[in-house]
Amino acid sequence: MTDTTTAIRVSGLHKQFGRGKRQVKAVQNLSLEVQAGQVYGFLGPNGAGKTTTIRMLLDLIRPTSGEVTLFGQPVFGNPNVLKRVGALVEGATFYPYLSGRQNLEVLARTGGYYDPKRVQAIIEQVGMADRVDRRTKGYSTGMKQRMGLAATLLGDPDLIILDEPTNGLDPAGIQEMRLFIRELADKQGKTVFLSSHMLNEIEQVCDSVAIINKGKLVREGTVKALLSEQSRLLVEADPLDKAQAVLSPDWTLHTNGGAHLTVEAQHDDIPHIIRKLVENHINIYEVAPQRQSLEAYFLAVTQGEDTHD
Ligand SMILES: Nc1ncnc2c1ncn2[C@@H]1O[C@H](COP(=O)(O)OP(=O)(O)OP(=O)(O)O)[C@@H](O)[C@H]1O
Ligand SMILES: [Mg+2]
Repeated sequence: MTDTTTAIRVSGLHKQFGRGKRQVKAVQNLSLEVQAGQVYGFLGPNGAGKTTTIRMLLDLIRPTSGEVTLFGQPVFGNPNVLKRVGALVEGATFYPYLSGRQNLEVLARTGGYYDPKRVQAIIEQVGMADRVDRRTKGYSTGMKQRMGLAATLLGDPDLIILDEPTNGLDPAGIQEMRLFIRELADKQGKTVFLSSHMLNEIEQVCDSVAIINKGKLVREGTVKALLSEQSRLLVEADPLDKAQAVLSPDWTLHTNGGAHLTVEAQHDDIPHIIRKLVENHINIYEVAPQRQSLEAYFLAVTQGEDTHD
């Protein structure tokens, strides 16, 4: 089997739905690369083209043009390569009158990898041991999501593709899902590709991220690099008016009458700002990259400002 360290390679992918006035360009000239062993986030607002892209990764729909390779092999018309992939796209469907366990058993049998011990281990992994013998009919969204994840793991895939895996989960469930995804990569060496419309979710679990908007790639890179582009700092200092006077020649400042000052500055500026304050005998209580600015950043890049292209 040809193996490479690139789990997913997408090049020049386009998908158009409909014709004429009804035409929707759901994905436009998308290229990205996911290294094996990574947790890779695919971030974009509603309608950005995430699910459409994922469907093309899985050969569920054909691209208008462009190419997808998984582990170095083209995905189109190549069912063998999909044997290495487990996927959960827009929620799983189950036989409602069978229990969760029975559903998994049916899937495992049809997939040709039935092993009751393994099914039980996966059930425990996704935290469903106490509920798995009830009919799936009565499952909550979060429970269905967990079962969906269990189903993706049955065939012991090398690559796991999850479309909005935390949809419908409560905060504790989201936290568990995050830990679980990290574990799949860190302890089991799996590659995980997941989509989300929430930046903080991606930030907490992913190594790399691609941001898409209106079908186009806006940014791709490591989460670390993306976060270091953050450019606002919250400074709590006393006396504040003096801090303002000292910093204003070099940086743009904003105040809201409170105890804080917001400074437009890069990560590299932080030591300079602190030094300047200390040299001027100003007490510093806090210097913090602004949390909201992450959201603001995501909003800015997804709200069609072409300055980032
Ligand atoms: N089968 C289809 N026929 C026509 N248009 C479609 C089809 N599937 C998707 N689209 C359109 O393509 C665009 C991208 O949709 P897609 O479902 O990929 O977005 P998404 O990023 O997954 O959004 P969400 O966060 O809401 O799930 C949207 O404008 C959508 O209306
Ligand atoms: Mg979607």
